[in-house]
Amino acid sequence: MRTDHRADPAAPAADAPGQGATAVAHPNIALIKYWGKRDERLMIPYADSLSVTLDIFPTTTTVRPDPGAAADSVTLDGRPAQGEVRRRVVGFLDLLRKRSGRSEPAVVDTRNSVPTGAGLASSASGFAALALAGAAAYGLDLDRTVLSRLARRGSASASRSLFGGFAVCHAGRGIGTAADFGSYAEPVPDADLDPALVIAVVDAGAKTVSSRDAMRRTVETSPLYRAWAASCTADLTEIRAALRQGDLPAVGEIAERNALGMHATMLAARPAVRYFSPATMAVLDGVLRLRADGVPAYATMDAGPNVKVLCHPADADRVAEAVRQAAPGCSVFTARPGPGARLTTEAER
Ligand code: PMV
Repeated sequence: MRTDHRADPAAPAADAPGQGATAVAHPNIALIKYWGKRDERLMIPYADSLSVTLDIFPTTTTVRPDPGAAADSVTLDGRPAQGEVRRRVVGFLDLLRKRSGRSEPAVVDTRNSVPTGAGLASSASGFAALALAGAAAYGLDLDRTVLSRLARRGSASASRSLFGGFAVCHAGRGIGTAADFGSYAEPVPDADLDPALVIAVVDAGAKTVSSRDAMRRTVETSPLYRAWAASCTADLTEIRAALRQGDLPAVGEIAERNALGMHATMLAARPAVRYFSPATMAVLDGVLRLRADGVPAYATMDAGPNVKVLCHPADADRVAEAVRQAAPGCSVFTARPGPGARLTTEAER
């Protein structure tokens, strides 16, 4: 599909008062990665990042303020959310309450169509949907920039899922309020590329180290971290030019080196954070073979062992087949650029 960069296509208002609001958001895959925060409380990244929002694996979240409830109720895929997940959602609801001047607890129901915690960006779609539905449910009329800033407080990558297609998240400058104001996402308006992403799920289990903990450890202990974070600035400039030119091989090369560099910083952390598995390496080898055979295909990996392969849509079937051969038993999905987060109406559900 061609992506729709309009701020909020045909956005309906929240459901009737007392009914709350429901939003749908899709995950995004970063081509220039966000890895490391310079302010953990405000969730300010060290460096700018750039991603593409997908058209598969949406998250649907309903938020309904409930004046009669004693506490927030949070369910994830039909089950009560526990521990860290619940803490993060409740912390986010507190931000909404503070901003709206309201105090009611909320009933939050979230449904993911992607395995949670497997490095497939469920926190990005999750907090984008929560920001949009939650803001509407608490009567906040916020534009997309403000919503992306807000979503960032849940998960920095979520700021990008407010937008369809390619989006960039600014790290902002300064500290405190200035940093918070300067760190938001926006669409990349002049990107002229409509790629496919072939996703190889080699392991759908929850990751062993959360991205939050892994990031902190990398920033605090990896001697390679500063160099990689600095390299993101040049990578971002180059990838934006390549996107403008619709140059898939250039986009892919930059994305692949940026992701491998990010994993190198983690491998150098003390103790090392290693998300790669033997199947990850097998898929990476398969991608190299494809390139040797003349197919422009480039890999990127997030906080997990799964691999996403950027290619031309016309090559997607061949890439998917190569991935299956490289890692027999893995699940393979093909995604295209997808839409930004949106509110839904009762009729659509
Ligand atoms: O926003 P988080 O905490 O889910 O971290 C996302 C980190 C990566 O997915 C590895 C990179 C990115 O920019 O999405």
